[in-house]
Amino acid sequence: MGVVLRVSNLTVSFGPPGHRIPIVQGVDFQLERGRILGIVGESGSGKSVTCLALMRLLARSAAVGGRAELDGEDLLALDESRMVAARGGQIAMIFQDPAASLNPVRSIGWQLAEAINLGAAVPSRAAVRARALQLLRDVGMPDPARRLGEYPHQLSGGMNQRALIAMMLARSPKLLIADEPTTALDVTIQAQILRLLLDLRDRLGMTIILVSHDLGVIAETCDQVAVMYCGRIVEMGDARDLFLRPQHPYTIGLLNSRPRVDGQTAALRPIEGVVPPPHALPPGCAFSPRCSRAGDACDQVAPPLEERRDGHRVACFHPAGAAA
Ligand SMILES: Nc1ncnc2c1ncn2[C@@H]1O[C@H](COP(=O)(O)OP(=O)(O)O)[C@@H](O)[C@H]1O
Ligand code: SF4
Ligand SMILES: [Mg+2]
Repeated sequence: MGVVLRVSNLTVSFGPPGHRIPIVQGVDFQLERGRILGIVGESGSGKSVTCLALMRLLARSAAVGGRAELDGEDLLALDESRMVAARGGQIAMIFQDPAASLNPVRSIGWQLAEAINLGAAVPSRAAVRARALQLLRDVGMPDPARRLGEYPHQLSGGMNQRALIAMMLARSPKLLIADEPTTALDVTIQAQILRLLLDLRDRLGMTIILVSHDLGVIAETCDQVAVMYCGRIVEMGDARDLFLRPQHPYTIGLLNSRPRVDGQTAALRPIEGVVPPPHALPPGCAFSPRCSRAGDACDQVAPPLEERRDGHRVACFHPAGAAA
């Protein structure tokens, strides 16, 4: 299928020169066309900063290093005008609050028409309207003809998220980044939006990065998973393999701390301790103060992300099931 996105040694730090605080450190991954990569981790682990760095949407105070090649073209090296064009076409991002990305004083139909006209010249108003209706149908919008004349405030959060996805589809991006796209939605609508992402992958072969703090969301949807902690990927692999045989103590902690789907366990076991703030990371492995497996080397050097099994990478000196 081929690699669409190749991220190498992505680093982001904030603050004035000489006082920079590292937020994302050495993030490396590849994503194949038509696959969904989940990025999961507790709040503050650097998921959004990683995605915003790929979109080049971070504040000027951010120093970004590394490479992020989309079909061979390094997004981080594009000049601003070419990056604006890329954001209009090749790479798109949706967020937790869709209303914030929509124009409140323009109808859904107007905003869709704008996206359609940006994507390619369409011959007539009737053709634009037909395309807009088709896009709304493609994203499962209820009563699509009526929605064209409505404004964002008249739609529910789930419908606004669908409208945004339709606008994004109008430009046929190679890569969609969805950062907590269902976090603000109730559970039923959340499931519908996740099914829509799966449908876009299956029907259009879309490549997607799905970010969530919720392992359940990631487990239901993703082909590949990257677990982030304190700005680093600590474990990455095929979703089934990672969930069946997690090796990093942090991943295991995350899995243990979520309610079981069979409802058998009442008691959650949250990971003890808290995520350290970026300006006060412990030396060595950032997870060491919370880790029950920590040993000698752990508080001295950060463990590198190394391949342990076929395509399954772990950054830990004492991973679980190391002999497997
Ligand atoms: N513009 C910024 N300036 C300084 N620090 C930031 C900025 N944006 C995010 N951070 C810090 O970066 C860390 C990671 O944030 P974020 O990527 O939003 O986490 P996540 O999306 O995983 O919850 C947090 O500690 C956050 O406070
Ligand atoms: S490197 Fe050490 S402290 Fe870090 S997760 Fe592995 S065992 Fe725990
Ligand atoms: Mg975030």
